[in-house]
Amino acid sequence: MSEPRLTRRGLLAGGVAAAGALAGCSVEASSRAESAPSARADTVPASAVEPFHGVHQAGIATLPQAYAVFAGFDLRPGVDREAVARMMRLLTDDARRLTAGRPALADTEPELAAPAARLTITFGFGPGLFAAVKEESPVRRLPRFRTDRLEDRWSDGDLLVQICADDAMTVAHALRMITKDARAFTRVRWTQRGFRRAVHVEGPGQTQRNLMGQLDGTVQPTDLDKAVWISDGPGWLRGGTTLVLRRIRMELETWDAVDRKAREFTIGRRLDNGAPLTGRHEHDAPDWDRRDDLGFPVIADQAHIRRAHVADPALRMLRRTYNYDEGPAADGTADAGLLFAAYQADVDRQFVPVQERLAEADLLNEWVTTIGSAVFAIPPGCAEGGWIGQTLLG
Ligand code: HEM
Repeated sequence: MSEPRLTRRGLLAGGVAAAGALAGCSVEASSRAESAPSARADTVPASAVEPFHGVHQAGIATLPQAYAVFAGFDLRPGVDREAVARMMRLLTDDARRLTAGRPALADTEPELAAPAARLTITFGFGPGLFAAVKEESPVRRLPRFRTDRLEDRWSDGDLLVQICADDAMTVAHALRMITKDARAFTRVRWTQRGFRRAVHVEGPGQTQRNLMGQLDGTVQPTDLDKAVWISDGPGWLRGGTTLVLRRIRMELETWDAVDRKAREFTIGRRLDNGAPLTGRHEHDAPDWDRRDDLGFPVIADQAHIRRAHVADPALRMLRRTYNYDEGPAADGTADAGLLFAAYQADVDRQFVPVQERLAEADLLNEWVTTIGSAVFAIPPGCAEGGWIGQTLLG
């Protein structure tokens, strides 16, 4: 993926410089980081901290960490505006401490709070939360797409907590602390765990691979201020964004039967280095008009990248996907796929048209099935002493 470009020195400085660079960040194409394995091992120290405070919440422009859990909660009946505000003060306090590598208040396992391992905790509000606090919701359920096979157990939710870190133990501890404090106000609706190759394994700037083996995340917005952060609309949401989270199952058993050429044809890119079928390098611009000797388009009309392409970078979504793998099932078949997390300023203008084109015709549909869907407004970040959601509920 064209990850937010980070320097090794910035990361070694405890992530502070890195995150500072990300505050008004633009995600840009970057070439593969070529460094010796020995030099990579210390690229991100376990103690690295991603700053919690800022105009935007962390965990979106942040260089993706290796592990993620997305937790969807429903508010308990009777939880009103005042109670939601109380809960968000409490959860913000937990997040502020934990992301700094410090125990939460009344932490039952305080030793587990360090190292921070670039922990980020990001909060989102679903339509049901807005109903409970009697405010107009800026987000709503997506329209139903032809190819959706949605299951309740992976869909919707009033409150989102997205927890990401480079260490699975840090993620588990943060989830436990947050869930305990949210318990009086909420019930857990779903949890979805994901992973990707860690930065210290691959080096920053390397696009991640999904479980189909493809480089996934090459083409991204170039200016997050235009594409991701909300600058108009309701005043309380300025500096925030929206998240569309889709759980997409991969039909890996049938994908196994597809040869390499057909796999590349399906996406429109090469498997080895992610180059478009009309180019040589990952970040070469695809030549949409090129035809082969027989007169057929080299990048097929129904290839995934042609159907998903958005020419205007300001209208692209930021894809920050994680892999999931809950299998194998008893019969040895895979239960795996993608936690497709897309952040955009405007769901209707950015996500929906792309998903419509994919549902209509995308060769990849043969091997992927969307089984979960949820949409959240992600409030802006907060300053020291403030709390997430204060601009709406304070
Ligand atoms: C399991 C499901 C999916 C898989 C395996 C997958 C895989 C890929 C791959 C390999 C690429 C090419 C490299 C890149 O630019 O990242 C790509 C591009 C892209 N995908 Fe997907 N994708 C999936 C679902 C989706 C969905 C649901 C959406 C949005 C609704 C989407 C939107 C995009 C976009 C916008 C691009 C960049 C297109 C361009 O401008 O070149 N993808 N995807």
